[in-house]
Amino acid sequence: MAVTGLCLVAFLLMHMIGNLKMFLGEGEFNHYAEFLKQDVLYPIIPHGVFIWLFRFGLLAFILLHMFSAVTLWHRAAKATPTKYETRKRLSQSYASRTMRWGGVILALGLIWHLIQFTVAPSHGSPFVAVKTAFQNPAWVGVYLLWIGVVCVHIRHGFWSAFATLGINTSALAKTVLNCLAYLVAGLIFLGFAVVPIAILAGGIQ
Ligand code: HEM
Repeated sequence: MAVTGLCLVAFLLMHMIGNLKMFLGEGEFNHYAEFLKQDVLYPIIPHGVFIWLFRFGLLAFILLHMFSAVTLWHRAAKATPTKYETRKRLSQSYASRTMRWGGVILALGLIWHLIQFTVAPSHGSPFVAVKTAFQNPAWVGVYLLWIGVVCVHIRHGFWSAFATLGINTSALAKTVLNCLAYLVAGLIFLGFAVVPIAILAGGIQ
């Protein structure tokens, strides 16, 4: 759960930085999207092959992450058979209590996101597809909510991943880890949110 989760956070950071190329204009953004689809690792591997290796890798990480979640869910249910024990959940943070349903909303949003931008972009280039979508305030609202759910999930997930890997062994380490979790989640939220907001405000031409 920890390792796959951290790899997915790394993907999100990469995706977020890539999206910021929207500010550099249509030519730059489309060139970047085309490069990812065609030219990465060329000529070591043929044109267009890397993106499929990458997609299968990403899918494998998402499936492993979900499989781990279901396994842990079952183990937790077995370990706390009485309702009384679940009272302990009151001491958990909002993010930790919403990991499961947050994960489900994240996954459903991702399916929609892939349909909208990868499978059926009806407006030509990736730049035009993104720009057209976010001229509609409703889509900006939906995406901001979805990114918010993603970042609440990341805040707790980032913290628990490093706790699982044994980093939170002292009070100082816990504080640093907690700050880092807020920083990474906040950065990802702002980095993703700024593009739809800028498009709606007319700041990306
Ligand atoms: C405002 C925020 C976002 C924008 C504008 C955006 C934009 C895009 C675009 C344009 C593509 C298609 C690229 C192409 O096929 O040329 C894409 C693909 C993708 N996005 Fe996003 N995205 C956003 C947020 C997210 C988030 C939060 C996640 C994950 C939780 C995500 C996960 C993905 C994945 C997995 C793909 C498929 C990559 C592939 O085709 O290999 N995106 N996104």
